[in-house]
Amino acid sequence: MLKKLAIGAALALALGPSMSQAAGGGGHVEDFSFSFEGPFGTYDQNQLQRGLQIYTEVCAACHGMKFVPIRTLADEGGPALPEDQVRAYAAQNFQVYDPELDEDRPATPTDHFPVGNDPKAPDLSLMAKARAGFHGPLGTGISQLFNGIGGPEYIASILTGYTGETKEEAGTLFYENHAFSTGWIAMPPPLSGEDVEFADGHSNELHHEAQDVAAFLMWAAEPKMMARKQAGLVGVIFLVILAALLYLTNKRIWAPIKGKKLEA
Ligand code: HEC
Repeated sequence: MLKKLAIGAALALALGPSMSQAAGGGGHVEDFSFSFEGPFGTYDQNQLQRGLQIYTEVCAACHGMKFVPIRTLADEGGPALPEDQVRAYAAQNFQVYDPELDEDRPATPTDHFPVGNDPKAPDLSLMAKARAGFHGPLGTGISQLFNGIGGPEYIASILTGYTGETKEEAGTLFYENHAFSTGWIAMPPPLSGEDVEFADGHSNELHHEAQDVAAFLMWAAEPKMMARKQAGLVGVIFLVILAALLYLTNKRIWAPIKGKKLEA
């Protein structure tokens, strides 16, 4: 009986990725590999800057990111743009409504990214944490222990998951997409490859673009991930040292009693 259970569990783990599709309700999420995965993973500053560029030039036409302050683009561990570039970026790309002036003015670093222009397009500030890419095996979510919740994988999979088929329903055009839960999404394919030119000469092929903007959205949703991992690591090291000291103390305290027993 126990043996059977163990075999079943091993099978479920092995089949995890493929079974997760079935449990996820139709969405097929591809496992992209990101620099920030694992206990020592960190954000890749250049990738975040490329993702910011894609967000600004493509996604921001419809989607907002209203919970993210523009000034955080200068933060260490993030895109880490120099302060003057952040100021120029804000002013050049976004207009915000100023209640005191009662008119629009160019954005400044203290403003947040604006809300989106398309009311049907959800805000992307927390999207990378709002969606789980991995559900399996059998809907238990165990694979998340190894792969993370898979938010950025989900976003990259949506962006690369279009089949090219469309259908019209109640006056709305839907696009077939492998990764979307219902299989049909109302967002027209935002990327097709070569949508932006990167200053660092990095590939702007569809897969790379999707991954870069997904990494950027992960940072937007969890800018302090690196600090959190570091704190966790320090905690583990501390506990290891504490455990060693406790072990030695324990040995010392019991030494006279155990020693006597041996002599007797
Ligand atoms: C033309 C407008 C438009 C553009 C440009 C656009 N989107 Fe969307 N997006 C939408 C709409 C509309 C939806 C809602 C789709 C639905 O619910 O069927 C959506 C939904 C999404 C979702 C949520 C899917 C879900 O699980 O609910 C993600 C993630 C997303 N977009 C990412 C992006 C990214 C990243 C970009 C830039 C590369 C982008 N979008 C560009 C209109 C757009």
